[in-house]
Amino acid sequence: MPDAKLQSVLSSLSQVARQFDALPSKSTAPDDSYIKLNKNENPFSLPTVVMRSAISALERQYLYPEDDNLSLRDAAANAYGLSRDQVIAGNGSSELLGLIYRAFLAPNDSVAMMSPGFSFNRKLAMLQGARILDIGWSETYSLPMERLLRGPAKDAKFILLANPNNPTGTFVPVADIECLVTQSDRLIVLDEAYVDFAPDNALRLIERHSNLFILRTFSKSYAAAGIRVGFGLGHPEVIGRLRNIQNVFNMNVIGHAIGISILSQCAAYEENHRYIKHERQRVSVALSQLGFSVIPSHANFLLARVPLGRNGSWWLTCLESRKILVAVFPEKGLENCIRVSIGTRSQMDAFVAAVREISRSVMHEHVGC
Ligand SMILES: Cc1ncc(COP(=O)(O)O)c(C=O)c1O
Repeated sequence: MPDAKLQSVLSSLSQVARQFDALPSKSTAPDDSYIKLNKNENPFSLPTVVMRSAISALERQYLYPEDDNLSLRDAAANAYGLSRDQVIAGNGSSELLGLIYRAFLAPNDSVAMMSPGFSFNRKLAMLQGARILDIGWSETYSLPMERLLRGPAKDAKFILLANPNNPTGTFVPVADIECLVTQSDRLIVLDEAYVDFAPDNALRLIERHSNLFILRTFSKSYAAAGIRVGFGLGHPEVIGRLRNIQNVFNMNVIGHAIGISILSQCAAYEENHRYIKHERQRVSVALSQLGFSVIPSHANFLLARVPLGRNGSWWLTCLESRKILVAVFPEKGLENCIRVSIGTRSQMDAFVAAVREISRSVMHEHVGC
């Protein structure tokens, strides 16, 4: 039944959110019978001591979380060799990405983004009425320095890239990042969500370059996606502007406790990171043997071009019918790719077995899978 009053109330409001009406709605939440390899989660338990810190934090459930995330920021500053005013803590790094767009962009401004990249940025730019200038990766997935420094990106308010990049998994040497940061007069937002699976990181550049802002998250390499802990690291003045517009009590007491505890337990994750890198290689080889073309990855996922004849969405549907979830992307050039996160050994065995079975059905020219 159309509600005339509601329609009139809605049309009297700003239409900013209207532009998202056309975006595809989310599918229903998958139950536990699915193997979830579509969001780059890290499917292992937290170390026992981290878990205990969360349980004892529950005893403080009646208190608001600490103002300005002070203890968590101190712990991060200590772990990363920075001062507290060089650190902002977020409800996941996506909260901090949102703050960057709100703090630094006005309508009609532009952001230069290495593309393909993390698609959430498009939504954030749209919300600000700003434009994303897609800067394509070079064929070898290195930075197109000329285009970033002298093309239309020159006028962008900031340059955004993820290293390792999502969804390609590719990694740019830190020396190239430093070259960009040195030569550019823009803010460089470097999203290091997957950096613990990579050979290097850009933390050491922070002290030398005031225009570098780094994002980190505990969602991927620290198995805490559901807890929502992320950090922004950069110059105190940049950090200060973001903190000025941040929600009070943006995190909760469990996030604080787990974040502080993880920062003191980084060594406990070494085995996890070793396992993921090893498994990534094993699955990459298995997929290659089945005719996929896999981009060498430095993250906890693989982007694989599917064998000729079918596209990524076809494989997604076939895998989904076997209760395995992977990701596909609408961007031009990625239609024939699937992205698969590295899960537990048994999850990856099930994934490879399903791909093998589907490949066989393709070879025997079955229409469906
Ligand atoms: C490149 C990149 N940045 C940021 C995020 C968001 O992470 P968080 O869970 O910290 O919000 C993701 C999540 O997939 C990502 O791929």
